Amino acid sequence: MSLYADYTDITGLLFDKLDKKRFLHTLGVAGTAACIAMSQGYDIRKAYLAGLLHDCAKYMDDSEYVEYCERHDIDMEDVEVSNPGLLHAKVGAYQAHKKYGIVDGDVLAAIRWHTTGRPGMSELEAIVFLADYIEPGRSHDPDLPAIRKEAFEDINQAIYHVYRNTMMYLRDSDKILDPTTEMAYRYYEDKVSNLD
Ligand SMILES: [Fe+2]
Ligand SMILES: [Fe+2]
Repeated sequence: MSLYADYTDITGLLFDKLDKKRFLHTLGVAGTAACIAMSQGYDIRKAYLAGLLHDCAKYMDDSEYVEYCERHDIDMEDVEVSNPGLLHAKVGAYQAHKKYGIVDGDVLAAIRWHTTGRPGMSELEAIVFLADYIEPGRSHDPDLPAIRKEAFEDINQAIYHVYRNTMMYLRDSDKILDPTTEMAYRYYEDKVSNLD
């Protein structure tokens, strides 16, 4: 069966669950993840699937995330309690397993880490993290044309570029900085500068 046919059921469930904008973003991330996978020689099906499910839990409001985590014994960090929207990644990995039947640990980890990323991301984690930022429907960062190009030429450079801009944005907007984001920023800054 073709990739799209294999994932028809999951796509249908997501169509029912997510709002229209989020669903279209989801398709954008799945397709972009598959394209980055092609350029990396990575498994296209896994990348598409992880992209498809990365925001599967992005339909709750803040208090619902906290209640959901309490009910299902999902650990919450302080930064997540004060900014519950971050929890959609953890809840998404949980639901991908329980509701969508995903058992592939690489796919579940890519969903888990797609929002903040982390130092030393796996290949699939990096692909989904980047695809989420650069999919064609995005227009939030004036550097997107450069980052999109880098994603297909030098993936670590692209990831570093995303972190650099994210850190600037978070500092300027007084939003809470997840310590994982800061650690990952340092990690990829090191990785890129060590290549020179
Ligand atoms: Fe997300
Ligand atoms: Fe997303």
